[in-house]
Amino acid sequence: MEKNTVSLRGRNILGLEDFSPEEIRLVLETAKEMKNIIHRDIKKVPTLRGKSIVTLFYEPSTRTRTSFELAGKYLGADVVNITSGTSSIVKGESLRDTLYTVEAMGVDAIVMRHKAEGAAAYASRVVSPVILNAGDGAHAHPSQGLLNLFTIQEHKGTLSGLKVAIVGDVLHSRVARSDIYGMRKMGMEVHLAGPKTLLPRYLYEEPGIFVHERIEEAIADADVIEVLRIQLERMKGGLFPTTREYARIFGLNKQRLSLAKDDVLVLHPGPMNKGWEISPFVAYGKQSAIQEEVQNGVAVRMALFTLVLTGGKQE
Ligand code: CP
Repeated sequence: MEKNTVSLRGRNILGLEDFSPEEIRLVLETAKEMKNIIHRDIKKVPTLRGKSIVTLFYEPSTRTRTSFELAGKYLGADVVNITSGTSSIVKGESLRDTLYTVEAMGVDAIVMRHKAEGAAAYASRVVSPVILNAGDGAHAHPSQGLLNLFTIQEHKGTLSGLKVAIVGDVLHSRVARSDIYGMRKMGMEVHLAGPKTLLPRYLYEEPGIFVHERIEEAIADADVIEVLRIQLERMKGGLFPTTREYARIFGLNKQRLSLAKDDVLVLHPGPMNKGWEISPFVAYGKQSAIQEEVQNGVAVRMALFTLVLTGGKQE
């Protein structure tokens, strides 16, 4: 196989729209190496010794914040966590002043989650540490998009030519947006389904993207189904029937799953609303890679830290 010569050193990771297919391949190749470290008894390498990382979270998180923290620690970096509820943000400190404060402490990278679209891009313009976007409103969640690609590639051995169905609340999903950019760049066919009110109209005209009103059409013969979380907290109202009605029309259950390929892979970024968008049978069934996604999240975030802070070389 030809050696990948691209570099992400010093790059802010803001969204997969900025990535080339070669750069995505580089992250996936590096994550494969990183996953070996996670399986060791002693999960510690000196790649980022002497580097310091701050996670700055203005929204709740279990998977993303913890896996970025573990990723930094497994690589030997010092990692400090700031959450909005337990910092001077509650005293009214602005985003800019918080970023300046973190920068003044000499950190090398800031992992940031914020409710506003563009917040990570803004951070990358006002401070010098590398910014890794851990979710900005409904805009992007690039590390989640990459870990989804990694998980699919591990199972299917390839990405190009696969049919993926992304079902549910596409409108509010930063995961869906990052998935769509990443999957299209890697040659996958993307089928979207959900209530009309939760499907952004601009996607109807995009090449390689197919929008369906019925979930059954989207998942027919699919290689991969990603179920999205219903994001009630981002809805302003009027977009959604009842959860019972949603489960009946759009929920992924055993019966609907049988419409996809026999070896279909089921993904969900978490946290899940079980019984609404996905049935427990599907969430915990043999087609589900939902727990693997969590483990792969650590490997992919280790890859991102290594690539942006060292260029991929052991230092
Ligand atoms: N997938 C994801 O972003 O989960 P968390 O909100 O728990 O980080």
